[in-house]
Amino acid sequence: MRRKIVAGNWKMNTTVPEGLKLVEDIVAKLEDVPADVQLIINTPFTHLYPVAESLNGIKCPVCRGKIALGAENCADKEKGAYTGEVSAAMLASIKGVEYVILGHSERREYYGETNALLLEKARLALANGLKVIYCCGEALEDRKAGKHFDVVAEEIKSVLFELTPEQMKNVIVAYEPIWAIGTGETATKEQAQEIHAFIRKTLAEKFGELAEETSILYGGSCKPSNAKELFAQKDIDGGLIGGASLKADDFIAIAKSY
Ligand code: 13P
Repeated sequence: MRRKIVAGNWKMNTTVPEGLKLVEDIVAKLEDVPADVQLIINTPFTHLYPVAESLNGIKCPVCRGKIALGAENCADKEKGAYTGEVSAAMLASIKGVEYVILGHSERREYYGETNALLLEKARLALANGLKVIYCCGEALEDRKAGKHFDVVAEEIKSVLFELTPEQMKNVIVAYEPIWAIGTGETATKEQAQEIHAFIRKTLAEKFGELAEETSILYGGSCKPSNAKELFAQKDIDGGLIGGASLKADDFIAIAKSY
């Protein structure tokens, strides 16, 4: 059974106190989250340690199990003289940090991250015991030109196809069409289902049955009003949520859409 996942990507938002308040508000509503839905919050590096401490302090084991924590990026090098970078080992050394987002289109576009670099990052993250949320998705020009399948296939093949099946078990894929991120424009449920099914079929070429077990999340202006119809699609296993994950009520409402 694939896991149902609702993950938040906070991006570069909130100060540490604001982030802790947001976590507190989310935790206060955990009882409303269905038992089979895994929440993951991915925060800026500065927030990870205090947020982990806050989550580790949750008394009820069932509620604690509903929420996990991740980072939004990690370095492509193991350690050393790389000023300003944060390694996978550093992230994994914080008790409670389990995930890292890699390959977000904002990192690809604004920081020039290539598939080759992302493969290095993914290998290091997985070697350090982190689970990877690997993002892929096409730009508007690609979709208009009918190239979206090719773009997504390339992002999947050049990174994920280089992993072993054992490593792939710790990867979640997030499909995020760039034209839908932060724009208020969402892929229709048909568009999203079509490409999610394509991603699963592509994964099956390399990983066979494992593709059926891989969670594939949709991201791009996912909100309480559209989450239900998106999550009802056969190959959509949840969402990677940007803006709406910064409001506890909206984030929980999305989780309740299952
Ligand atoms: P929005 O939900 O703000 O469109 O962002 C999606 C996203 O980029 C999540 O990683």
